Amino acid sequence: MFSSAAKQEIEDIRTKYPNARAALLPTIYVAQREFGWLSSEAFDAVADLLNVPKATVRGVATFYAMYKQKPMGRHLIQLCTNVSCMILGAERLVDFLKITYGVEPGGVSPDGRFSLVIMECIGACGTAPAMLVNDDFHENLTEKNLQEILEKYT
Ligand code: FES
Repeated sequence: MFSSAAKQEIEDIRTKYPNARAALLPTIYVAQREFGWLSSEAFDAVADLLNVPKATVRGVATFYAMYKQKPMGRHLIQLCTNVSCMILGAERLVDFLKITYGVEPGGVSPDGRFSLVIMECIGACGTAPAMLVNDDFHENLTEKNLQEILEKYT
């Protein structure tokens, strides 16, 4: 189920930890990146590869909000709406995303392009509003530059 590149990456991760359970978090992260989200089959693949009980994998993965257990868009928008970002227009950005891309908090756009997750403070209050798109950080957001940024993610 894993690509050979992902298997190699997981083997490399495994060597950095004293046992397989300790390597679960980064391995589950690789699985999520590989499959887009963590289906039951993805949990099984991690369990088989690390030789740990499936219940252990599921228990770890379901504890953390960063692991997604439903299908996601191709790109994950994590937009902060906490106090600094809210004061500087994050709520307008949420509305803009809904109107322009059809994606609501916790949802996926109809074309499968974007998922939107609302974040609490992401540590960029001085340059709010801020967001992550996948692993890319963006700040000083306005409706105009938000659209310019998102057009790069096809
Ligand atoms: S409140 Fe949004 S980054 Fe801190």
